[in-house]
Amino acid sequence: MKTLAVMNEKGGVGKTSLVAHAGWYLAERFRTLVIDLDQQANLTATLGAHLGRVDSVELFVQVTRVPDVGRLTVTRSTRDLLGVEGVDRTCIATFRDSLAAMAADYDVCVIDTPPALTNRTFGALLAADAVLAPIGINDYSIQGVAELLRAIKGVARHYRRPEPLFLGLLPSIFDRKSRRERQLFESLAGQAGRLLFPGLLAKRDAYARAASDREPVWAMTGSAAREASLEIRGVLATVAVRLELGR
Ligand SMILES: Nc1ncnc2c1ncn2[C@@H]1O[C@H](COP(=O)(O)OP(=O)(O)OP(=O)(O)O)[C@@H](O)[C@H]1O
Ligand SMILES: [Mg+2]
Repeated sequence: MKTLAVMNEKGGVGKTSLVAHAGWYLAERFRTLVIDLDQQANLTATLGAHLGRVDSVELFVQVTRVPDVGRLTVTRSTRDLLGVEGVDRTCIATFRDSLAAMAADYDVCVIDTPPALTNRTFGALLAADAVLAPIGINDYSIQGVAELLRAIKGVARHYRRPEPLFLGLLPSIFDRKSRRERQLFESLAGQAGRLLFPGLLAKRDAYARAASDREPVWAMTGSAAREASLEIRGVLATVAVRLELGR
């Protein structure tokens, strides 16, 4: 099983939207597990049709396997997730061990994290083979990036493991019509060049609609949805290749 953590301490940058689409997309070809670690439970709502019998919090409490409910299986976010944010950090390693116990059960696991550097985020980083970081295009995005990279390195060093593969910063909700955003994107590309993911997600109504309609943009009709579909499937195809999922 290959594990991808989607993270950014910043809120509202498109993490959950990306994880939902990654779940739908990867499940076309792979046995896919999606873990919602955000107590806001947006992903749990969007992927509600695929909920398994295990709540995400259980993976932190004791080593737990999630029985699949089909090609796509989702663990439910509950408010109890806040309970793992105490000083006792053993839950971080327990989460890693839960995922290790499912190595043969799934081909791929995608983790949605809350917009904060919490024990849950550290657990995701500890379990991850790869990390993808959606970012907003604004003045603060570069500052947040340094913090994010520090967290990735810090967790690897603390737990004496190799760093996960950093798939890159994925500009998300990018408003091409805004001159300011286009300029900021250029300056971001200049400063973060090598760290940028080869692709981006534009700001499109179809993505917002996908979340509330609980279906991927490629299930929708119309040319706007078709454009969104090509865009995000292109991004996800690259992610699948970088995760070396094969087929
Ligand atoms: N490319 C996009 N274009 C337009 N709207 C988008 C796009 N991506 C996400 N959205 C919408 O923007 C809002 C924030 O997106 P999302 O919930 O995915 O971000 P997030 O990073 O998970 O937020 P949080 O940090 O609060 O968990 C949602 O209403 C979502 O539907
Ligand atoms: Mg989210």
